[in-house]
Amino acid sequence: MSLPRIAVLASGRGSNLQAILDAIASQQLAAHVVGVFSDKPGCAALNRVDEARRWALDAKQQSSRAAFDEALTAAVAAVRPDWVVCAGFMRILGDGFVARFADRLLNIHPSLLPKYKGLHTHRRALEAGDSEHGSSVHWVIPALDAGEVIAQTRIPILADDTPETLAARLLPHEHQLMVAVLQRAVSGELAPPVSKASGA
Ligand code: GAR
Repeated sequence: MSLPRIAVLASGRGSNLQAILDAIASQQLAAHVVGVFSDKPGCAALNRVDEARRWALDAKQQSSRAAFDEALTAAVAAVRPDWVVCAGFMRILGDGFVARFADRLLNIHPSLLPKYKGLHTHRRALEAGDSEHGSSVHWVIPALDAGEVIAQTRIPILADDTPETLAARLLPHEHQLMVAVLQRAVSGELAPPVSKASGA
């Protein structure tokens, strides 16, 4: 039987991608990363896989938002992914992309959703005086960070935390969460609600 095929979307350093690659290498995750897709051609995430599996298009250089979304959709479809994982992908996906892959499209977000959708989640958790913080893996729907949560990891916020210390302490937990959800995904345990599968 061929391994489940994972496409990863990333914009930055790619530590979540690395956690996925490491889990595969150590046989904790029976899958194959078939492509890494980015809106930032120079980003470090791309260098974590060989050239044949890299795809990047500078979103800012495209004639329109739709042009980028169409190119991304075609490139991801070409690798025939069983799962599409946004792991630090910092661009809002177009509705067409979401509709195409909604039954297999996951995102990891550094907050205890539904708290703190969008950016600066660590700072916002501190400013709110929260006693805990965390990350969520959720199904992607067109509305930003609003799809159904699959699993979360949480850590206490310490009195002297800064956004940087909080983010650094959360990151290894986030990596474990990402891998744990993908283990469930590839073993067929994640069934998207019908409304998600139709892109609604
Ligand atoms: C991660 O903390 C991820 O949760 C976050 O960006 C970071 C990427 O790190 N994603 C978002 O904020 C998406 N809204 P990485 O590139 O080292 O995996």
